[in-house]
Amino acid sequence: MTALWWQTAVIYQIYPRSFQDSNGDGIGDLQGIAQRLDDLTGLGVDAIWISPISPSPMVDFGYDVADYCDIDPCFGTLADFDGLLRQAHRRGLKVLLDFVPNHTSDQHPWFVESRAAKDNPKRDWYIWRDAAADGGAPNNWISDFGGSAWQWDEITGQYYYHAFLKEQPDLNWRHPDVQAAMFDVMRFWFDRGVDGFRIDVLWHMVKAADFPDNPPNPDYRPGMGEMHRLLQLHSTDQPEVHGIASAMRDIADSYGARGLGERILIGEIYLPVDRLMHYYGLKRPGVHLPFNFQLIDMKWDARTLAAAITDYEAALPRDGWPNWVLGNHDRPRVATRLGQAQARVAAVLLLTLRGTPTLYYGDELGLSDVRIEPAQVKDPRELREPGLGLGRDPVRTPMPWDGSDNAGFSTAKPWLPLHADWRTRNVARMTDDPGSILTLYRRLLALRHEHPALSIGDFALVSVEDELLIYARRHESQLLLVALNFGERPHRLPWPDWAHGGRLLLSTHEDTPLAEHDALLLRSHEAVVLEAR
Ligand code: NOJ
Repeated sequence: MTALWWQTAVIYQIYPRSFQDSNGDGIGDLQGIAQRLDDLTGLGVDAIWISPISPSPMVDFGYDVADYCDIDPCFGTLADFDGLLRQAHRRGLKVLLDFVPNHTSDQHPWFVESRAAKDNPKRDWYIWRDAAADGGAPNNWISDFGGSAWQWDEITGQYYYHAFLKEQPDLNWRHPDVQAAMFDVMRFWFDRGVDGFRIDVLWHMVKAADFPDNPPNPDYRPGMGEMHRLLQLHSTDQPEVHGIASAMRDIADSYGARGLGERILIGEIYLPVDRLMHYYGLKRPGVHLPFNFQLIDMKWDARTLAAAITDYEAALPRDGWPNWVLGNHDRPRVATRLGQAQARVAAVLLLTLRGTPTLYYGDELGLSDVRIEPAQVKDPRELREPGLGLGRDPVRTPMPWDGSDNAGFSTAKPWLPLHADWRTRNVARMTDDPGSILTLYRRLLALRHEHPALSIGDFALVSVEDELLIYARRHESQLLLVALNFGERPHRLPWPDWAHGGRLLLSTHEDTPLAEHDALLLRSHEAVVLEAR
């Protein structure tokens, strides 16, 4: 196969408020990201995805967009963005933006108009319904952030629908003018040169036309978050969403077809694998990569992982390219979920599986979730349903660059606190430490670039036993073996016949593993990559 850039690329997610502040306001910005581009190429990633940077009241920190075609002043200007894009491209780094099509801010001029009067031309750009007979909400749908998903609006005496905060009214994607306006937004950024979009909550974009009640979730337990009381049967994943994804794909593909460079679309979709696969496209191509979040939510043991990997591989449509995600700005960090030792094993897994990996900033340092005192909470998710552990501030804390004040992130007090061990857990310090997880990530990323077998090679499960998972990756004459120990106990790893005399390319552990003539001894929480000779 001839691999396209996004098939061999490793994507790095930047949460822009927390990456690098250049103007001393305690909030990261675009010039800050530009200052760190050499760090990113030095790490060895190929593309960055920047969480939303458009003008926003920041009620949901940029996922409430008030103007799709500009930059929020806290991040900089369009000129800063163009500069960042130029500098990234000069280094061969691709840049993906976050596109938030499901909803706008309630401050967006479209909603201000829509809300003004029932006969406003933009009324149907959003989802307005009369009250139920008893005066209550039109149906039982629950916001993903808790509470009814319907907000009563005094001005015109109707409810509007919001899948998230009431400050984030959902657009009505059944309206052709909404589609046209949002497709223009995509062209605006593609024309400026962005290489693709991560599409926010793609599976939410179309709702059942007659708005039936959602059924109760039999597995709901208190503490899960109120949204889980119901199954989102009618409010998400409707068949019409695929036509929209395909129309977006046509726009992206039109750039490649004109020789303007291959542009890509990644869909944020939390659905079981069989439903997820539909987002590759049913009758026509859908998004290039429907995000595969299984590594985030999965029980972390060899058998569960082996089954998930092989089932996912088997479920992929012909031409469907796999992808894997280990963390993001909404979920607990991998080091918190698994601990430091398994975070290293997870790094090996992420970067040796077939397909495009996405890495969340700070995970390469083994950052853990940071404890946020109640008075410091910023995330609306936590503020709406406090104390359930659903808040996302803990995973959005500033990137620690060095041991100077505020970890080199800012000259001012950062908008969220740093992690407690930032004086040792920072980029400068860990770069010099051959045993650090950062060094491991650098080596893994270099290995992936040197060995096409790791990115585009075939995948074959070799064995899964107890705490041990072994698989092979093959491309042309290159054959690699990856072995991961998910447990405390050491394991004897017999060399398969074909791997005899194999060469060790990498271990999570600093010193060389113990080899016997016919086996390798895999230590507690050790993962290795071997090359067959
Ligand atoms: C998904 C985003 O990842 C999350 O951060 C945001 O709060 C919701 N969509 C609403 O836009």
